[in-house]
Amino acid sequence: MLLNDPKWNESSVLAPNDKTFRQTQYLRPVLDQIHHNPAAEIMCHARGRTGILSLGQGEGDVSTPDFITEAGIDALRAGKTFYGPPLGLPEMRRTLSDYYRDVFGFDLPPERMVLTPSGTAAMHLAMMAVCDKDDEVIAVTPLWKNLLCAIQLQEAHTKEVCLRENGGSWSLDLQELFDAVTPITRAIIINSPNNPTGWMMDTDDMRTIMEFARERGIWVISDEVYGRMAYGIRRAPSFLDVADPDDRLIVINSFSKNWAMTGWRMGWMVVPEEAEKRIYDLVLYDYLCPQAFSQFAGMQALRNGEAFLSSQMAWYRQARDIVYDRFAQWGNIVSTPPDATFYAFFRVEGEESCFNLCRRLIDEAGLCLAPGCAFGKEACGYVRMCFAVSEPKLLDALGRLERVVRR
Ligand SMILES: Cc1ncc(COP(=O)(O)O)c(C=O)c1O
Repeated sequence: MLLNDPKWNESSVLAPNDKTFRQTQYLRPVLDQIHHNPAAEIMCHARGRTGILSLGQGEGDVSTPDFITEAGIDALRAGKTFYGPPLGLPEMRRTLSDYYRDVFGFDLPPERMVLTPSGTAAMHLAMMAVCDKDDEVIAVTPLWKNLLCAIQLQEAHTKEVCLRENGGSWSLDLQELFDAVTPITRAIIINSPNNPTGWMMDTDDMRTIMEFARERGIWVISDEVYGRMAYGIRRAPSFLDVADPDDRLIVINSFSKNWAMTGWRMGWMVVPEEAEKRIYDLVLYDYLCPQAFSQFAGMQALRNGEAFLSSQMAWYRQARDIVYDRFAQWGNIVSTPPDATFYAFFRVEGEESCFNLCRRLIDEAGLCLAPGCAFGKEACGYVRMCFAVSEPKLLDALGRLERVVRR
């Protein structure tokens, strides 16, 4: 369905199985359903225009630091261009295990580490591993659309449980989450720290959810991609803090955000030891193995990337202050500074449609941001801006935004 279709509305992120979606009937109908993506439509609206400034995507403008890139180049030169083990190089899996020991204080064996060709790929693997057609998956939204699509591609049913906004801050009602669970619920997907809201779950809530899931035999799929991007603390709470080794828990992670490596396509997951052999098969028959040379860059990032990460976080904190000082001056922006992540997620008083606002920002100010309606029901009306860019770019973006939204 195209967005100028009168049937479209901002809450149709999880598009119903509607015949009007069938533009490619010779392919699986689910592909027509996932085709609908308001964020991609906004990008299309901006494409081809001159002078566009985009803070709509989930990445900063700093390229991968040299010490990481060099390790990848050295690996290529050293002939690391062959197939490798499906779950990642043994050295990489050990390095991941060491990283969890050094940064998180966990004792997790390398056998639980699975190196994947991105965090996104890890989520697809997790869904393939736990979900069958017609299972139900509870997604705590707002949630990045690609994660919602991983559920849809399994032809499982998505049930959204929404974070609620109050005065610009977001929270989760645990009772609402538990009430949503039915006998066909197979998994709960949670992304904390959360893209796009910046909300972060505390350890007590994680413990309560893990206990509930354990009792019901439900999987928890925890996307912790922004776990190192919490302000004022070295790392955010993790479900691994509260889980037993054999709990039905898969933790998704990525090199993309921490070490400015979005283009390397590398992530990982932590799985229960018992699942290792089956995940091995899944990978073997899906993509065979992750790329070899990037793993050498990844190991550098894990071993020596703390200083880079700290300097990035120091800038994000300043950038966050710049953004929220401006918002306070304008007086019509509803949002509170995020506890984590590099996103400002806000609504403008009196602006009903985030999609129309994002189009106007492009038309009137050449600024491309992401519409909240791409992230689930409760996110309609909000706009996401990634502030992980240089100061001049950020100030330019804020100037453009002000021109359109300040009354
Ligand atoms: C919550 C969340 N999970 C996963 C990813 C994807 O990470 P990767 O680049 O490793 O695919 C993103 C990217 O924006 C994200 O926001």
